[in-house]
Amino acid sequence: MRILLTGRNGQVGFELQRALAPLGEVLAFDRAGLDLADETAIRARLRDLRPDAIVNPAAYTAVDRAETDSETAEAINAVAPGVLGEEAERLGALVIHYSTDYVFDGQATGFQREADPTGPQGVYGRTKLAGEQALARTGARHLIFRTSWVFGAHGANFLKTMLRLAAEREALSVVADQIGAPTAASLIADVTAHALRQALREPASVPDGVYHLAAAGETSWHAYASHVIAGARAAGRPIRVAEDAIRPIPAADYPTPARRPANSRLDTEKLRNTFGLVLPHWRDGVDHVLQQIL
Ligand SMILES: NC(=O)c1ccc[n+]([C@@H]2O[C@H](COP(=O)([O-])OP(=O)(O)OC[C@H]3O[C@@H](n4cnc5c(N)ncnc54)[C@H](OP(=O)(O)O)[C@@H]3O)[C@@H](O)[C@H]2O)c1
Repeated sequence: MRILLTGRNGQVGFELQRALAPLGEVLAFDRAGLDLADETAIRARLRDLRPDAIVNPAAYTAVDRAETDSETAEAINAVAPGVLGEEAERLGALVIHYSTDYVFDGQATGFQREADPTGPQGVYGRTKLAGEQALARTGARHLIFRTSWVFGAHGANFLKTMLRLAAEREALSVVADQIGAPTAASLIADVTAHALRQALREPASVPDGVYHLAAAGETSWHAYASHVIAGARAAGRPIRVAEDAIRPIPAADYPTPARRPANSRLDTEKLRNTFGLVLPHWRDGVDHVLQQIL
């Protein structure tokens, strides 16, 4: 099997290089090798390489910058997935694509299901939702994994920012009224490999469409930060901030250019049932990555 992978240097892309390797030949591209803003280049590359599967973790993920750079976000997040889908449809290839909890407005209570109404609050969420729809419209075989709060040892993320700030500052204020599940890039990559294999070997068991993929459990950014910092302290890392100086604040006190959903909880029952998988608790993934980093 020949798998084309985009965004090889991103958090999820990095882990996918490892997880997809046992399935076949992985042709992994960074932005310089395959620019998703360049529709002609995408088409030429796919027609040349003729992959059996396309795995697309590349995205415009700078949520706040997207508010003032919507044209670029649109090209990468909204247009490119449709172009990948059109070419995949010609080739008979499967597309695996990723999306986000930010397609929701976060006003619903409880865990959100795939068919629940969407309502993105910013450019990033709007363009990611448009990308889901553009891919689905092409008629290519496709799986779209909506995930949340991604972290890993490789790349920039909230976990690493908290480790740095905890070493530098005596006090921290962290948002406590947004709820979700931190999801390890390695978990997303491992689930992708399982899903890709099943989708190609037993296609009838894997309907096309959106699947929610997040770690089990739920937490706030504040409780997540406190857990990370406690882990670093226990590992003997020099930490400046005292435990009681990690202050919970409402999102209203931490204004950002893009609004974030208050509820990022994703119901993963569809994914677990379709693929027969168990999703570990978010703390397991965080502790594992902490061990790697520390
Ligand atoms: N991070 C999160 O918390 C989160 C939450 C929910 C969903 N997601 C979704 O999960 C997926 C993976 O996210 P991630 O955290 O792994 O993202 P990431 O670490 O920010 O990586 C994104 C990758 O996309 C690449 N990229 C950006 N513009 C490109 C272009 N024009 N052409 C080709 N590649 C380009 C980047 O390349 P450079 O390294 O060259 O910039 C980077 O390697 C994305 O679909 C994202 O929307 C992420």
